[in-house]
Amino acid sequence: MRITFCALALLAIALSACSRRGAIEAGQQPTGGDVRIGEHLIYAYGCGSCHVVPGVAEANGTVGPTLQGFGSRYYIAGLLVNTPQNLFRWVSKPQEVDPGNAMPDLGVTERQARDIAAYLYTLQ
Ligand code: HEC
Repeated sequence: MRITFCALALLAIALSACSRRGAIEAGQQPTGGDVRIGEHLIYAYGCGSCHVVPGVAEANGTVGPTLQGFGSRYYIAGLLVNTPQNLFRWVSKPQEVDPGNAMPDLGVTERQARDIAAYLYTLQ
């Protein structure tokens, strides 16, 4: 009886650890941003003229890579590890990160980059 209880308790601990890790792997990274505002900003800045962005109106561009599944991607532009801090930097100053690449600086502020990142991390 006691062994069964221990086994169940261990199973519960293991499962909760798994689901917590699963959430991070699934890209739910803390950004401090607002997903809904992020979606609006992605539309307003015209990111979709160059990127496919699932869930954003008219976002079907093919100049840059699709952002479908971005929340599970390991690198940003093949250069930076995909962490919130690096994503803020890329979205607000891609030319500083990688001078001469095809994504222009669009004047996205730090605050707006947080909201945009919050949305991008919902994309699995
Ligand atoms: C003029 C076209 C253009 C616009 C507008 C543009 N991008 Fe990009 N973006 C690119 C290109 C090209 C790349 C690939 C850069 C590279 O890998 O060197 C890229 C890369 C990215 C990446 C990394 C993708 C990956 O798979 O690693 C993200 C994230 C991104 N852009 C977000 C945005 C957001 C958010 C906006 C709007 C604020 C935006 N982009 C506007 C062209 C654009």
